[in-house]
Amino acid sequence: MAENLVSSWSDGKTLPESYVFPPEKRPGENIVPTSKSVPVIDLGNVNRGETIQKIIEASQEFGFFQVINHGVPRKVFDDTRGAFKEFFALPMEDKANLYSLDVSRKCILYTSNVDYDKEEIHNWRDSLRLVCSPLEECIQSWPEKPQGCREVVGDYVMKVREVGSRILELICEGLGLEPGYFAGELSQLQIMSVHHYPPCPDPSLTLGTRKHCDTGLITILLQGDIPGLQVLKDGQWIGVEAIPDALVINVGYQLQIVSNGKLRSVEHRVVTNKDVARFTAALFIEPTRDCIVEPAKALVSAESPPLYKGARFADFLQTFRAAYVGKIKDVMEPYMLRT
Ligand code: OGA
Ligand code: NI
Repeated sequence: MAENLVSSWSDGKTLPESYVFPPEKRPGENIVPTSKSVPVIDLGNVNRGETIQKIIEASQEFGFFQVINHGVPRKVFDDTRGAFKEFFALPMEDKANLYSLDVSRKCILYTSNVDYDKEEIHNWRDSLRLVCSPLEECIQSWPEKPQGCREVVGDYVMKVREVGSRILELICEGLGLEPGYFAGELSQLQIMSVHHYPPCPDPSLTLGTRKHCDTGLITILLQGDIPGLQVLKDGQWIGVEAIPDALVINVGYQLQIVSNGKLRSVEHRVVTNKDVARFTAALFIEPTRDCIVEPAKALVSAESPPLYKGARFADFLQTFRAAYVGKIKDVMEPYMLRT
């Protein structure tokens, strides 16, 4: 029900019990400041080899990096975030018909998580999920309001997935895989989650997004100007700096599998804040549902045996969803090979 949306009921003063995370999962009173340690990589660097090396190192060490000079004009970011802000500010009657937990739809508005009904504690966020491929087909299902939203977001998706393809090519070369290894069904699907994190009465007790790794190959996040994303590094949370011109890139589970563990998908979460609403857009680059994802043959040898079983991506997603709501402990466990 659309009445579940945080933005529809929150008075900004009280945090319901169903948003209070257990003590070991809460951010606590001292929310870690942002740090410059997650690498910022200049995609305009003419030294391709150097760029590749930085991307591979960051993907091994942090599972995360930011890119600047990626070629997407700042105006595209600002217009896109503007459209999303306007969308979430629309009166409820303009949004309520999009409310759904059915991920087979090309456009849904939901709150916390698509398994809202199965989870014990909710994330402090409302989200819009847009399927983005094939773009021309999906765009017809996206919100009609605010005016021009489809065009602006469509343009954003085209430009940002281009950045994604470039990054995947660089990763491909860095791993020593044949050119175009990721270009087919491994990266054919693109899905965007637009998150609205309303101001929160008590950021110490709750999370905007609980700890997780992303499911696909890579995620390209527009964090905007308000920080909130935290990455787990050596058991400590570090806050990712908000650089309005940058895109945050992270390794998803499927890239960890394909790279046979060379690149790491790293746990991250989102903290809320008391004062301002935060809007982010995550573009997930994913395999097709029927794609069997397995370690690349070129990365497997007698010295480096496969760490993971091949799995159909759709089945992996089921496991992920069960783990997200706490039904199973570890997403990767069923896919690990004992060596
Ligand atoms: C996600 C995610 C981070 C953010 O959507 O998977 O991690 O800052 N989002 O919204
Ligand atoms: Ni994520």
